[in-house]
Amino acid sequence: MGIKIVGIGSYVPERVLTNFDLEKIVDTNDEWIRTRTGIQERRIASDTEYTSDMAEMAARRALEMAGSFADQLDLIVLATVTPDTRLPSAACHVQRKLGARSAACFDFQAACAGSVYGIELVTAMMKNNRKYKKALLVGCEKLSSVTNWSDRNTCVLFGDAAGAFIFEKTKESGDTLLASVISANGADYEMLWIPGGGCQLPLTKENVDSNLQYIRMEGNKVFKIAVTSMVNSCHEVLEAAHLKSEDIDWLIPHQANMRIIGAVGERLKIPTEKVISNLWKYGNTSAASIGLALDEAARSGKVKKGDRLLLTAFGGGMTWGSSILRW
Ligand code: COA
Repeated sequence: MGIKIVGIGSYVPERVLTNFDLEKIVDTNDEWIRTRTGIQERRIASDTEYTSDMAEMAARRALEMAGSFADQLDLIVLATVTPDTRLPSAACHVQRKLGARSAACFDFQAACAGSVYGIELVTAMMKNNRKYKKALLVGCEKLSSVTNWSDRNTCVLFGDAAGAFIFEKTKESGDTLLASVISANGADYEMLWIPGGGCQLPLTKENVDSNLQYIRMEGNKVFKIAVTSMVNSCHEVLEAAHLKSEDIDWLIPHQANMRIIGAVGERLKIPTEKVISNLWKYGNTSAASIGLALDEAARSGKVKKGDRLLLTAFGGGMTWGSSILRW
């Protein structure tokens, strides 16, 4: 028996917000954003397009690639910090929209490390429970709903998107996931967080007036820790898989900043041609970013069956992790 990823899909909203559009909203400019981040544009969901809508679209594309139907799903897991509602989970909304009646559903959050956490989680759940034969994992965010559009330190960075994976238990032995390492450090949570909206600081008028419902980030501190943590966890996961960085066909890092991606690739001695990035057109889409990058690379024929992929991510929590997949 093997647990395989047999389908992948992604979705981005139609509306494009360019750096030039942002110049009209905050005191910034295209040159600053491009040179400091690598981002040129990002997608923004409409007011009536929710996290579960984007997840549903990505899931339908992944199901189609897998040749599967929604009612065959036994498990739906959503990684998100921006669920449609506090209750129920966005996964339950996705179940209803897909018509996946018999699936167990829940959300979890590991911020930008969501898909790396999720791949380990779903693989382990399927290994440990015979009930789960087909599962859907979606990393999905409507970050525009928690972005402070008057804070130039953060509003230029984020975008909305979804990236979905279909897992299947197959008769063929060997898992798609060869090795995984996930970690966190809750002590540094204030470097990247959303203070309001939980039970600590509920959305009272006073808290909303103080913008506590929006993302806050100390970008340059996050930057340094992100590079070190991603590089260390890549070394750990390579060791766990008994592989070296030259055995990797593609590095697919979380898409947060071109300089972070460049530094990670350089320290791992993985040449730029083997690093997948679509950050310039989508910005940082948190839990969606790795699924979105992998989906585009797989559909364009860049990533081929049998390729060894090294995924690595870092996000709020702080959370981070890396996985090696045999595609
Ligand atoms: N436009 C123009 N200037 C801006 C700006 C913007 N959008 N945002 C910040 N600046 C200014 C700052 O105010 C600061 O000005 P000052 O020197 O007069 O105080 C200057 O640019 C440098 O700011 P700094 O924060 O040191 O820049 P940086 O090189 O660290 O780049 C980030 C900022 C946010 C792009 C970068 O730190 C980053 O990408 N961090 C990690 C983000 C991330 O990955 N987050 C999610 C984790 S997954």
